[in-house]
Amino acid sequence: MLVVSVLSLKGGVGKTSVVLGLAGAATVRGLATLVIDLDPQGNATSLLAAQPGKAGAAEVLANPTRTTVEAALTPCDWEVAPGEVDVLPSHPNLIRFDAWTGRTVLQPKLARARQFFAGYDLVLIDCPPSLGALAREALAASDLALVVTTPSFFGAQGVERAVAEIDEIRKTVNRGLRLAGIVINRVRSVAEEHAYRTHELADIYGRVSILTPLIPERIAVQQAEGTGQPIQLIKSEGGREVAAVYDIYLDRLLAGEA
Ligand SMILES: Nc1ncnc2c1ncn2[C@@H]1O[C@H](COP(=O)(O)OP(=O)(O)OP(=O)(O)O)[C@@H](O)[C@H]1O
Ligand SMILES: [Mg+2]
Repeated sequence: MLVVSVLSLKGGVGKTSVVLGLAGAATVRGLATLVIDLDPQGNATSLLAAQPGKAGAAEVLANPTRTTVEAALTPCDWEVAPGEVDVLPSHPNLIRFDAWTGRTVLQPKLARARQFFAGYDLVLIDCPPSLGALAREALAASDLALVVTTPSFFGAQGVERAVAEIDEIRKTVNRGLRLAGIVINRVRSVAEEHAYRTHELADIYGRVSILTPLIPERIAVQQAEGTGQPIQLIKSEGGREVAAVYDIYLDRLLAGEA
């Protein structure tokens, strides 16, 4: 089982799209995949059309037992054979768990529940757009972290903060955590990509590796979202292009390299 957190300080950069893109790629390969929606906005939960059961991610954080986890897991209605995607759904009440307290870091709850996810090959955690207690919970329970950004100055600043947070969690509660790399999403043109890959990226991110190819901005991503389907089922040129990128990313994650 590989557990991957997808995070960013800045909102709207594509965390949920990345989680769903990777989940779709994993499902096509027949992997048993779990999406944990740790964002109180619940976008992944709605997009996967998971029918919330009696419990969700908030109950698991409150009470990280096998019984709670089993009550909270729900199948999603994506039809991408041969694999399967389940969801640990979000609920607006998850926001209560995002307040920062020193204790939250020292006693991570999701990490305690991790053993009960053991039947899955891949667990993807969608984080809220913050580096509060929920993102820390996600990082404390993960093997790998992916930081998502768009090609912009403020996006880059957010990346630096997220990378620092990952370092902090590695030093304190999760020595096994590694940064898988930075995902640059919504790249509009070859020129923009070129500029980023040559000088800006090297200046801003330094030692941190960037996953390539970068993810292009394509209408297909919004079509997937609008129709509640994985990008892998959007058969336009843009859909295929984006799906191919996620397939490459999945290879790297599974190989433990970025
Ligand atoms: N590569 C892309 N091309 C076109 N549109 C995209 C792309 N990636 C994401 N989007 C669109 O951008 C919007 C924001 O994406 P998404 O919800 O994945 O971001 P997020 O980081 O999860 O946001 P939040 O911080 O609110 O959780 C969505 O409407 C999505 O369809
Ligand atoms: Mg999101």
